[in-house]
Amino acid sequence: MSDIDSLYTEISAAIAAATSEAALEEVRISALGKKGSISEMLKTLGSMSPEERQTKGAAINGLKTRVTDELAARKDVLKEAALEARLASERVDVTLPQRAAPAEMGRIHPIAQVIDELTAIFADMGFSVAEGPDIESDELNFTALNFPLGHPARDMHDTFFFHPDEAGERLLLRTHTSPVQIRTMRSQQPPIRVIIPGRTYRCDSDQTHTPMFHQVEGLVIDKGSHMGHLKWILEEFCKAFFEVKDIKMRFRPSFFPFTEPSMEVDIQCDRSGAEVKFGEGNDWLEILGCGMVHPNVIRNCGLDPDEYQGFAWGMGIDRIAMLKYGMPDLRAFFDADVRWIKHYGFRPLDLPTLFGGLSS
Ligand code: DAH
Repeated sequence: MSDIDSLYTEISAAIAAATSEAALEEVRISALGKKGSISEMLKTLGSMSPEERQTKGAAINGLKTRVTDELAARKDVLKEAALEARLASERVDVTLPQRAAPAEMGRIHPIAQVIDELTAIFADMGFSVAEGPDIESDELNFTALNFPLGHPARDMHDTFFFHPDEAGERLLLRTHTSPVQIRTMRSQQPPIRVIIPGRTYRCDSDQTHTPMFHQVEGLVIDKGSHMGHLKWILEEFCKAFFEVKDIKMRFRPSFFPFTEPSMEVDIQCDRSGAEVKFGEGNDWLEILGCGMVHPNVIRNCGLDPDEYQGFAWGMGIDRIAMLKYGMPDLRAFFDADVRWIKHYGFRPLDLPTLFGGLSS
């Protein structure tokens, strides 16, 4: 066998044995690269006699052409095989069941849901939302709200105090959302119509009390606001929130330092069955405190109580959430138990609206 024939046999076998495009490229370089075996052979043409060059030259070039063609053909085969392998590995089985999207699996906590419901109801009546910090001064949490220093009313709340500073002043975790009434009246001109949802803190823990809980406060300040307005707003709120056509309410005299007169409000319900039903029955359930804002409070905010008057109310968000959605133990609200939130939570894209239904 001539050199050319044996070289061809060798290269051709290497081409056939290459199983990847990279391996094939190595074969090409070893044959046709600058220092490849065929290239080296071509270089010998220069030192040949013209007759020898004529016969050998044609044979070497023929070898080059055959090898080039075989390389190209093998490359096509390998490319095709690589594509097949990729398609097989990336195949999607469209018959598999669909996995639920994160937006389907997540749940909104009942507290967040109820805050959204409250906001939807009061926004419809022209209220905006105001907020304040969880850490408050004694002045805003108590004094400006007409709790006199050393007055037993301060003991109504079991307060978490911070250590006093050099001046002897103690910050505290706010015991109610009422200090935001003061912040609002000091920073906005009447007419004022706000609701104030937020976290509040008291040193207390049992089935219906947790050290951190949530309240929502309402405040209306204007020149002619009176108890008739307060009563209407609370009635409309209760009907919308508990999603009933009618609900009887009972206003009982009470005491809060920051309102005069002060009242507690009970709503009609039926507690004869396993669940509490609202808007029917002969039982009463207390849901909030309210009253006409005390003239001292209005004065403490730099407003003239002879010109401005108004009313306020406050209620426990956790409590009304428990009542509406039938949850027995408040502590479970803050246990971060996935099973609980799956059962009592709300779907993230079902936003409560008055026209679309609050909880449906
Ligand atoms: N701040 C009261 C509490 O935490 C609730 C309250 C009662 C707020 C009457 C009010 C109100 O604005 O008028 O017990």
